[in-house]
Amino acid sequence: MSTRRAWLASAAALPLAAVGQNKPAITLRFSHVVAEETPKGLAAKRFKELVAQRSGGRISVQVFPNAQLYGDHDEMQALQLGAVDMVAPSLSKFGRIGLPEFELFDLPFLFDDLASVRRLTQGRLGQKLLQGLSHQGLVGLGYFDNGFKQMSANRPLLEPKDFIGLRMRIQASRVIAAQMRALGAHPVTLAFSETHRALASGVVDGTENPVSNFWTQAMHEVQSDLSLTNHGYLGYAVVTNQRFWHSLRVADRELINQAMQEALAFANQIADAQNDNALQALRQTGSTRIHELSADQRVQLRRVVQPVQQQLAHRIGKAWINALQAALLQGVG
Ligand code: SIN
Repeated sequence: MSTRRAWLASAAALPLAAVGQNKPAITLRFSHVVAEETPKGLAAKRFKELVAQRSGGRISVQVFPNAQLYGDHDEMQALQLGAVDMVAPSLSKFGRIGLPEFELFDLPFLFDDLASVRRLTQGRLGQKLLQGLSHQGLVGLGYFDNGFKQMSANRPLLEPKDFIGLRMRIQASRVIAAQMRALGAHPVTLAFSETHRALASGVVDGTENPVSNFWTQAMHEVQSDLSLTNHGYLGYAVVTNQRFWHSLRVADRELINQAMQEALAFANQIADAQNDNALQALRQTGSTRIHELSADQRVQLRRVVQPVQQQLAHRIGKAWINALQAALLQGVG
């Protein structure tokens, strides 16, 4: 078995839940765009198991990974229309449904560690952001991490000059687009599910993502260099449709919500390890050169992207940026 296949098999081998024999009375469809062996895929699996276990099989969760049902361009719409009941898009993807304030998490070099992100998401600012989802007919159940993003291309990306002229695949976030422009690259917005093919065919030259996404999408087959820039954060919010949510009995809502909170805590526990394991597997495979940045190179990248915060303040909203800065300074949410 190849290193990648063995890794995927072991990551998927979580214990099976003991499930009752009841025929499901409620079936909840959970659609997402990444592989089953990522933090998001494993959280969805854990959620499904917990719900089945605690409802004795009365509530069942069907998980559709890898954009099998809907991709980045249509999953939110599918949720709003009730074609699926739950999705977990990255925070970068809420701007396109009229909630650009979520893009504040995309500001480059904003967070020193995941603990500071969690203080924000679990504090007042994070909860206020989730409340804004109600304007779109949605309910936010919580946040979870993937981790920090790295840059890849067919050359090392260590200093601003390395990015000049590269077409970099990005998510649909104006903040990430501005970050790539500040580095001298051309941002190209593409759905996650199209990224591998676009890299393989040369439609784009490079991309950014945490290592677990890079590895499980086999991007190492089409990118010769991965630079460990840790320049930005990738996290998710789990959202459901208000109509669906309020159609549930209170006790079922509580059961589902409790299972989700535990699945999110589980995802946060494993996210770092999933990225570390993926990096180790990548090193073993040896197909991609992995580069560490020197302190000076990191300072250079940081300096070049610094103006993005100012440039995008009008989009994110000055009040959100001020609240974020205050929370970061005080070490609270
Ligand atoms: C995801 O992790 O959900 C996808 C991230 C991306 O589109 O780059």
